[in-house]
Amino acid sequence: MNKFWSDMVKRAEPYVPGEQLNVPDIIKLNTNENPYPPSPLVREAILEELEGQLRLYPSPTADGLRLAIAETYGMSKDEVFVGNGSDEVLAFSFMAFFHPGKPIRFPNITYSFYPVYAKLFNIPYELVRVNEDFTLRAESFFGSEGGVIIPNPNAPTSLYMELSSIESILINNPDTVVIIDEAYIDFATVSAVELVKSYNNLLVVQTTSKSRSLAGMRVGYAIGHPDLIEALVRIKDSVNSYTIDRLAIAGATAAFKDREYFDYTVKKIKKTRQRLIKALEEMGFHVLPSQANFVFASHAERAAVELYMQLKGEGILVRHFNQPDIENYLRISIGTDEQIHSLLRKLQQLLPVPRQR
Ligand SMILES: Cc1ncc(COP(=O)(O)O)c(C=O)c1O
Repeated sequence: MNKFWSDMVKRAEPYVPGEQLNVPDIIKLNTNENPYPPSPLVREAILEELEGQLRLYPSPTADGLRLAIAETYGMSKDEVFVGNGSDEVLAFSFMAFFHPGKPIRFPNITYSFYPVYAKLFNIPYELVRVNEDFTLRAESFFGSEGGVIIPNPNAPTSLYMELSSIESILINNPDTVVIIDEAYIDFATVSAVELVKSYNNLLVVQTTSKSRSLAGMRVGYAIGHPDLIEALVRIKDSVNSYTIDRLAIAGATAAFKDREYFDYTVKKIKKTRQRLIKALEEMGFHVLPSQANFVFASHAERAAVELYMQLKGEGILVRHFNQPDIENYLRISIGTDEQIHSLLRKLQQLLPVPRQR
């Protein structure tokens, strides 16, 4: 604490991101990045932009990128907001739609940035307990005073909530905004974007960091009713007109235009996920039915923290959360087939042979 700090700084409890170890050859399966590079069209677009107008400010409205996103989802440009990673879009959304004094709701096991924003912006919150099997009960989110935010699929559990449940949450919160954080939706079945036309209180937030391999570029977006988008623009233009730089606008636009590459890598990751789940189950892990680019797994006979430490010692980084209810789980991002093969080989050495059933 310092006497010069504002109340806001004093309140802040900053988010701690997953380790980014600077060790070459490390197998990094801890922050749900995509193991494949972005589309080749991204590189081309960035190089072209580099030759061009970097001395000029980027477009404050990023129209080309918003149009590319809108076309991907069959929406119009005024239903799309873009920001510097979905983390920024989420932070702006907390400022735009949630109120000090009116508690919002989110699951007790969820993306750990939500309580960070809530504390920073002085927004009270109620934690909704997940069920024993980590699923969410839609009814627990009905009638919130200040709004709702849920990741779908949820992180770190990897579980997907059906659209009918989301729709019931929207219907039962007619006067507050419901944010569905779809960072991992491309590895699941159906997006809530299709509900946007019917519910003016729905904001769907997505990112290019996972399925489009652009975590290093920081481009996230929100899709919602134009009035919600206008609110986000008002916040953005009161903080920083140019949240996305020229290279990022060019690169992300190209990524949305390369549908074929996107489909190919997403399919590959889903296949690897299936193989990983099966192999982990054979080794005695309980693995939740993942619809994300990571799995959440617990071993009956070995403490997760020990496995985490041992894997780290062997140059394989996975994520362990020292948090009640999930301290015996590991979150493992889906890597390439080779990376997953190395992980499984190491686990085989570390684990006892499972008993015959
Ligand atoms: C649920 C969820 N939402 C949002 C994000 C943020 O993604 P980004 O800021 O890279 O777009 C993440 C990142 O891991 C996440 O897990």
